[in-house]
Amino acid sequence: MNDSVEQPDLERLGSAVPRHVAIIMDGNGRWAEQRKKMRFSGHKAGVDSLRQVVRCCSDKGIKALTVFAFSSENWRRPKEEVGLLMDLFLISLRREIKRLHKNKVRMNFIGDISAFPKKLQKEIAAAQELTIENSGLTFTIAVNYGGRWDITEAMRGVAREVAEGNLAPDAITSEHIERYLSLRELPEPDLFIRTGGEMRISNFMLWQLAYSELYFTDTLWPDFKTEAFASALESFANRQRRFGMTGNQVEQIKGA
Ligand code: IPE
Ligand code: IPE
Ligand code: MG
Repeated sequence: MNDSVEQPDLERLGSAVPRHVAIIMDGNGRWAEQRKKMRFSGHKAGVDSLRQVVRCCSDKGIKALTVFAFSSENWRRPKEEVGLLMDLFLISLRREIKRLHKNKVRMNFIGDISAFPKKLQKEIAAAQELTIENSGLTFTIAVNYGGRWDITEAMRGVAREVAEGNLAPDAITSEHIERYLSLRELPEPDLFIRTGGEMRISNFMLWQLAYSELYFTDTLWPDFKTEAFASALESFANRQRRFGMTGNQVEQIKGA
């Protein structure tokens, strides 16, 4: 027996409700194309799904929701679509922030926002500042985010500690790396959802998804409303998470 292997987080093992849900909101473009509309109208329609999912998370007492709104690879899209997305982020944030604040949601953004229009950067900073004391759902929006970027940034932090002589290379543990990751203050996602039918992670939270339950659905994001989210939560509640143990061990721990 290797005693250096840590026990799993018991709260993570037994809970039927996820503490943290991470979502890749995909399928907006196809939703619009199916309706012979501009791709942008799919993005616009997706805002309503997000509003509903945020509400459900608050209602169910889920502590954290993290959504992927713009990846570091999405800059590859046509300039016009990127520009319209930036406008939509700004308009939606301005429109929704009061209600979010009223509902005690704490807003958080991860990713390199320095590449975004100044107006949007200001609005992001203001939203985070306004809601910083809120005790409800921690709602994180990942923009210009990439899982590899996140890990690379963390490596830089660790390397600085080493260069300053405060940490020996052989003493580096996963905790040192975690201390520098974007979502360090949150539990790792228990449930990962991707809408739109693709079965891939697309450079989302590579480190943090190590032991998340994965849920893929063909439903396109603009159609992913309260009911669809409830189905994902139900699927999660019926999973047996094992973290490397046997099913019997898990049942014993849960029954104890
Ligand atoms: C996800 O929907 C939203 C963003 C990436 C901003 P898509 O725009 O990727 O929709 P599809 O995959 O083309 O249908
Ligand atoms: C992932 O969706 C990023 C977001 C939802 C913001 P994409 O549509 O960009 O992913 P790929 O390109 O199909 O992998
Ligand atoms: Mg897509």
